[in-house]
Amino acid sequence: MRPTQAPFPHTRLRRTRKSAAIRDLVAENALSVKDMIWPVFVREGYAVEEPVPSMPGVVRRSVDKVVEAAREAHDLGIPAICLFPYTSAANRSEDCAEAWNPDNLSNRATRAIKQAVPELAIMTDVALDPYSDTGHDGFVRDEEIVNDETIEALVKQALSQAEAGVDIIGPSDMMDGRIGALRAALEAQGHHNVLLLSYAAKYASAFYGPFRDAVGASGALKGDKKTYQMNPANSDEAIRLVERDLREGADMVMVKPGMPYLDICRRVKDAFGAPTYAYQVSGEYAMIRAAADQGWIDGDRAMAESLMAFKRAGCDGILSYFAPDLARALA
Ligand code: PBG
Repeated sequence: MRPTQAPFPHTRLRRTRKSAAIRDLVAENALSVKDMIWPVFVREGYAVEEPVPSMPGVVRRSVDKVVEAAREAHDLGIPAICLFPYTSAANRSEDCAEAWNPDNLSNRATRAIKQAVPELAIMTDVALDPYSDTGHDGFVRDEEIVNDETIEALVKQALSQAEAGVDIIGPSDMMDGRIGALRAALEAQGHHNVLLLSYAAKYASAFYGPFRDAVGASGALKGDKKTYQMNPANSDEAIRLVERDLREGADMVMVKPGMPYLDICRRVKDAFGAPTYAYQVSGEYAMIRAAADQGWIDGDRAMAESLMAFKRAGCDGILSYFAPDLARALA
């Protein structure tokens, strides 16, 4: 739909840009802290905040510090945080059993946060990569990342997270059929109100590099993830994946990475009208931070502009390491 307009000079599109007040009146999108999910890295220990070298400004926190961060996030108006455990080599194994240990790092952090800040929504990640000795999101058998056997493990992992009290489960593994399996298991166990935010259109991307450093997976990863994560050349396939996941019981869907895939965000939103999220991933954060730290771009403005792009592309919310910075900038 195109607005009807008179020829120049009766129409001068600059009129609606003439002052901040008028620009505000005609703004089509707004960026709010209420749209943000803040990903945080959790590690063992007490009173530890350990910098992640490839993500300036981001730290791995021990559980007590994650609780502090959760309280701060809630005070800043951020509705949700997303937990990613940094698992020590000792807790990584071929069978990935730590993934469904009721007392693993992620579950301990969930319980501690729920006790301290019950209003804050907690999201967790479902995938085996923090727990496997291969760095892959699924089990590896004869160099193949096996689908159906992995799903059985993902179900155990998700149920242990639901037991710990998470609000939103985010399967990031890209196995076929996992949303249906997870939904059925959650319903069967009485977890009727646990949401599934499917990483539905997740691309095999170079932009995950700093994240893999942050969770200690870089050294572990053998090969690449191209047999399960999407080819960056594809767009129709993203629509098929999102449709499938919605049919299997996903409440919300995600496109990942974010900024290189804004076209996918728009297509997904237009096609389904479902709650749609983008993940501004570690490499996107690192690029903006690195350029800002060099004084090459204005960090606050680049942050806000990059996040506004997701709203313009139709996203309902954004996972971003900038969440607390944005909250402070908007306050
Ligand atoms: C793994 C997972 C990844 C991210 C979130 N969950 C990395 C990967 O697929 O290798 C990336 C997040 C980021 O780069 O910020 N299941």
